[in-house]
Amino acid sequence: MCGIVGLVGHKDAVNKIIDGLKKLEYRGYDSAGMALVEQNSGELCVIKTAGKIANLEHEAHSKYKGAAEAGIGHTRWATHGKPTKENAHPHATELVALVHNGIIENYADLRKSLLAQGISLNSNTDTEVVMQMISLLLSKGVAPLEAVQRTVSSIRGTYAFGIVFKQHPEMIIGARKGSPLAIGVNADGKLSLGSDAVALSGFANQVAYLEDGDIAQLYTNGSLNILDKDGNKAARPWQPISKDQSIPDKKGYEHFMLKEIFEQPSTIADTLIHYIGRPSNKTVNIHPSGISWDQTNHITIIACGTSYYAGLVAKYWFEKYARIPVEVDVASEYRYRTPPVHEKSVGIFISQSGETADTLAALRYIRNLGHTCVTIVNIPTSTLAREANVVLPTFAGLEISVASTKAFTAQMAVLAYMLIEALKMRNDADLSFELAKEFLTVDALILNALDTMQGLTQLAKKLSETKDVLYLGRGVLYPIAMEGALKMKELSYIHAEGYAAGEMKHGPIALIDKGMSVIALCPYDKEGLFHKIVSNICEAKARGAQISILTCKKGRLLLEEAELKCPIYLYPDATQLTAPLIYSIPMQFLAYLTALNRGVDIDQPRNLAKSVTVE
Ligand code: G6P
Repeated sequence: MCGIVGLVGHKDAVNKIIDGLKKLEYRGYDSAGMALVEQNSGELCVIKTAGKIANLEHEAHSKYKGAAEAGIGHTRWATHGKPTKENAHPHATELVALVHNGIIENYADLRKSLLAQGISLNSNTDTEVVMQMISLLLSKGVAPLEAVQRTVSSIRGTYAFGIVFKQHPEMIIGARKGSPLAIGVNADGKLSLGSDAVALSGFANQVAYLEDGDIAQLYTNGSLNILDKDGNKAARPWQPISKDQSIPDKKGYEHFMLKEIFEQPSTIADTLIHYIGRPSNKTVNIHPSGISWDQTNHITIIACGTSYYAGLVAKYWFEKYARIPVEVDVASEYRYRTPPVHEKSVGIFISQSGETADTLAALRYIRNLGHTCVTIVNIPTSTLAREANVVLPTFAGLEISVASTKAFTAQMAVLAYMLIEALKMRNDADLSFELAKEFLTVDALILNALDTMQGLTQLAKKLSETKDVLYLGRGVLYPIAMEGALKMKELSYIHAEGYAAGEMKHGPIALIDKGMSVIALCPYDKEGLFHKIVSNICEAKARGAQISILTCKKGRLLLEEAELKCPIYLYPDATQLTAPLIYSIPMQFLAYLTALNRGVDIDQPRNLAKSVTVE
């Protein structure tokens, strides 16, 4: 989603801001812009373009002639107003330029008040309103800090601002509430401002995260003044920016997504090594999470998008093996339905980015009721990680492709570890040992599943010409069917639905004709779901659907005996614990290969954002 970069005191600010914005491209955006106070002319120069950073780079190089030491840059993901040049940030008058992440909820009232004071507005954005309010105060002689303080006190909503002032080329101001904002410093003491550590990784080696309500003044001479929400001087702790926070290269892969898919055996192995020791003598050493499983009789899991499906898989696991009831909800619904939380419930918040606004709000709700909040997160320095009681990192490494792959399987690996720990602590050491032994094979099984990419190319070719795809699964593979459909929508822009196979006849069956492609996730299992889903496949086949079946060797044998003549794709033998991870691989491949055939932007699909910092 939107990204912010700000620099003070750095030489060659134009190129550095562009480099910083390029690092933020992975978050998803639709337009970009920058503003600098030129040293020679003393003018505030603003450049913005719709589309990719390359457009901005081209224009910036032809427009900025003089050097500048203070500037701000922004990648915008449209909320209020179309993704046009006019609506791109920074918004500026001749006195001030401002970039914004977040949403100003009372912008309509503020806009009316500005119009009544004779101020005309040039865009449809909520952001311009804030900038005009600051500009109005500056024009009346109010100092920059006070102008920002007075303005933020009258806005409702979420924000991270970066602001430059024509009359103060030696300073930028940052302010945040709800949306993250960080300050960076390099070895020479030069300061920078960024929406995350990744943005700052090129020009800072330490980072400090602003807290809600903070306003920071960053000066070219390296001095920094932070005021907290009550206007008192504050210090925020510095921490080193780790190597993991800089953008990796594609290592020869055509897309980050493909690289990240193929990284999964090693990312899963890294996660497992951290959490589960090698089982021996009927025992398994487990990393202590700090969760009192023996005191827990309910689990609430909250997440969004792909992370939500990892939570749904965990519901099947925890209820079946640990007999703990689990409620799973999408964060945007959960946070507004003021649900009662069971007395001994643990809250688990799953997020790749750790910045998803709705998930964060749900965490605060449960934390304020006094419950332990655990986050499973890929960015250990993120806001969710800073606000949770227990942080369980996924160790997947920075994920660049907007569509989540390796972070998703790593989330499921952490959830499996939590189950194994819960069983051990709840006096079911034998089952804990058995499941640990079983789950520790999953990285090798994923490696085998990765060999199937070539075999899926023909199916993906067919899918790329279809209009609708129905993914069917049962049990632990029902959430994976939904994840497969989500991936297909995100990447190829083809309509896809994931359905519980048994529920198909209650609606979707009406859509089935020979134009419908059906992908059935159908491994042989001890629980007997295989036979149930085969019946559902027959129902779809009888109505002309184009069926493809993903199964294991035993499943294939039984399907052949039943003379169900459909293309079959083979996957390693799986259990309830390993199947969701193994069958995620063909879901990822099918979406990737279909999108490749359709020639769309795989790593940054249209309209999507990697880090969803607004609700
Ligand atoms: C966006 C991304 C998805 C992701 C979801 C939740 O929609 O495009 O890939 O699953 O956000 O993000 P989180 O960072 O909380 O896992």
